[in-house]
Amino acid sequence: MNFKKYAEANRRGWNQVMPFHKKAMDEKWDAMFVDQKFIFQKDQELEELNKIGVTGKRIAHLSCNNGIELMSLKRMGAGHCVGFDISDIAIEEAKKRAAKFKIDCEFVRTDVLEITQEYFGNFDLVYITVGALVWIPDRRKYFEKAANLLVQGGQLFIYEHHPFGNVIPYDEEFAGELKIVHNYFDTRMLEETGGIDYYGGESYKSSPSFEFPYTLSELLNLIAESGFCLRKFNEYPEDIAMCRDYMNKQKIKLPLSYILVSEKLWY
Ligand SMILES: C[S@@+](CC[C@H](N)C(=O)[O-])C[C@H]1O[C@@H](n2cnc3c(N)ncnc32)[C@H](O)[C@@H]1O
Repeated sequence: MNFKKYAEANRRGWNQVMPFHKKAMDEKWDAMFVDQKFIFQKDQELEELNKIGVTGKRIAHLSCNNGIELMSLKRMGAGHCVGFDISDIAIEEAKKRAAKFKIDCEFVRTDVLEITQEYFGNFDLVYITVGALVWIPDRRKYFEKAANLLVQGGQLFIYEHHPFGNVIPYDEEFAGELKIVHNYFDTRMLEETGGIDYYGGESYKSSPSFEFPYTLSELLNLIAESGFCLRKFNEYPEDIAMCRDYMNKQKIKLPLSYILVSEKLWY
C-alpha cells in the first residue's frame, strides 16, 4: 500500500474541510477562549486526565487539528506543548489562535509518520483524541512514532471512537430501530468524497480522502508491539463522534468511546 499517497490525499481532504469548520466554529472557539478558565475537555476525559495529571508535563498531541484541545491542556498547567497535524489550514488556525490568546504552544505541520528526530524523547505524554486514528494508513508506524517521542516511562493517552460503533448506522441511516448493519471485522479502507464537515453539516464535493477502520484487537496488539504496557482501558456508551447522536437516547447501551492509557517500557 502506498501510505504516502493516502496521507497526502487526507492532507488535501482536511485542508478542504477546514474553511467549513472555521465558518461554523471560528467565532465560537474565540468566544470560549476569551474566558481564561475555558477548558475543552469534559466528563470522562477530564476525569482520567486529572488522574494521570498534566501539570508540568511536556505533551505531544498527534493529529491535533486546530489545537483547541492542546491549548486547553496548556491552560491546565502542562509544560512544553507541541501539536502535530498534516493539515496546513488546521495548523495555521492553531498558530493564529495560540498567538491571539497568548497560549504558549508550538504547532508543526507534518505527517505524524514524518516527525523528525529533534522531537524524540522530549515528551512525558503523547495525547491522541477523537477521530485521529482512523485517518492513518500505517498505524504501526504511528504508534512507533508515539513511542519515539516519549521519555522512558512516558504515557500514551488515547480518547477515541470505539471501533464497535462501526457496526451500527450513522444518524442519517438510522431508521428508528437499533440494528447491526456493518461487519465489525470488515476493516477495508473507505473512500470519502462527500465532505467531512461534522461541525457545520454542509456537504460539498471533496477530493477523495481515506479512512482505515480497525478492530480493538488490532489497536491493543499494535500498542503492545510498539513498546507500551497497558495501564488503563475504559469503555463508555457516549457517542463522541457526532454521527450517532441517536445512541445517546437509547436504553440499550453499546461501547462507543474509549480511553486507553499505556506506558512506554522500551523502544
Ligand atoms: C478528526 S481530527 C482529530 C483531531 C481532534 N481531536 C479534533 O477533533 O479536531 C483528525 C485530524 O487528523 C489529521 N491527520 C490525518 N492524517 C494525519 C497524518 N498522517 N499526520 C498528522 N495528522 C493527520 C487531520 O488533518 C485532522 O486534523
